This record gives sequence, C-alpha cells and structure tokens, in this order.
Amino acid sequence: MFHDIPPAIQTQMRRLEAIDAHDRRDGTPHLQRLRQIPPETGRFLALLAATAPAGRIVEIGTSAGYSTLWLTRAGRPITTFEILEEKAALAGETFHLAGVEAAVTLVQADARQHLPEIKEIALCFLDAEKEFYAECYALVIPALVPGGLLVADNAISHAEALQPMLERALHDGRVDALVLPLGKGLLLCRKV
Ligand SMILES: C[S@@+](CC[C@H](N)C(=O)[O-])C[C@H]1O[C@@H](n2cnc3c(N)ncnc32)[C@H](O)[C@@H]1O
Repeated sequence: MFHDIPPAIQTQMRRLEAIDAHDRRDGTPHLQRLRQIPPETGRFLALLAATAPAGRIVEIGTSAGYSTLWLTRAGRPITTFEILEEKAALAGETFHLAGVEAAVTLVQADARQHLPEIKEIALCFLDAEKEFYAECYALVIPALVPGGLLVADNAISHAEALQPMLERALHDGRVDALVLPLGKGLLLCRKV
C-alpha cells in the first residue's frame, strides 16, 4: 500500500506537500491555505480505509485533495466534499494529474447538505471548519455501519474548539472512541 504508490500519485503528494509547507511559512491567508494533514496521518487513514468494513468511504473537507490521495491507497471508491469552489477546482486538477479520477467522486458543496442522504458509511474522515464538527458528527454516527469508523482531525491542535464534540464522542454509547496523538490529534470512533 505504501511501497507501491504509483509515480503519478507520488508526484502529486510531493507537489502538495511543498505548497502546504510554503503556505505555512509565507503568511498565505487562512482560507487560501491548503491546511493538509501530515503524511503520517495520511498513512494511518489509508490503513484504516483498507481495513474498514464494507460500505462507503466519505471525506468532509477535500482542500486540494492530499488526504484523498492517501485514502485512494485502500483501492476503494471515495466521495469527498469541498465547500469552496476554488479548492474543489484544485482538487479536481490533483485527481486528474494523479490518475485517480475514476476512484474519487468530488462534490463541491457543504457536506452538511448531503450527509443526511448518505447511508452505510464504512469510514468518514472529518477535516472541515471546526464549527461544523459537532453537526457533522451528529449526521455521520447514525449512518455508520456496525464497525464503521469516524476519524476527525485536529482533536489535539484544536481541542478547545472541538471540546463539545470530543465530550459527546467520548461519552457516546453508540461508539467506542479515543483521541490518538498522531499528527494534529485524531478522534477515532468505531460504531459498536
Ligand atoms: C483542513 S482543510 C482539509 C485538508 C484536507 N483534508 C487534506 O488534508 O488535504 C479543510 C477544508 O474543508 C473545507 N470545508 C469546510 N467546511 C466544509 C463543509 N461544511 N463541507 C465541505 N467542505 C468544507 C474547507 O473549504 C477546506 O478546504
């Protein structure tokens, strides 16, 4: 999975890592920055996607498609939501250049408008604006298949902003949940 990444995907991963690193140094405005996950989080997501039960793989917050590229390593179709037109255009270009267009359904929309229609989620990666996390959590958990996973980024880097959702998850009888100190901190929930 990590040892046989096609050159076209590797090239796009390196390109986006370079842009993201540059964004963080040069004061690029928040909305324009790619704000990607680090590579170790990407590898973990790929492993989780590969071992998730049958069902849909969903991502909330595509940006330019870096985390989506990692999710494609599981060899399963993915639906990814990006609210901003500019970011969705960047992601479309990434998927085209990486040769993964057939595996990825990119939806340029607020994920919250579509989540109520999505059932049988095997894995959802949540990496959007922090004020939307609690609402996304409430929409995703009922749609998870048994053994399905919700992974939310920034559980440590933005612990204060995400506190209501973290408290909800850690005391939610529908899931087994914990916070992992990987990358920016991941909330990992598994539907019981
Ligand atoms: C932290 S970035 C995602 C980074 C991406 N997951 C990666 O690691 O490559 C968050 C993205 O979520 C998008 N976003 C925020 N709220 C959203 C929503 N409600 N629905 C869909 N996308 C959203 C933002 O426009 C932004 O591009």
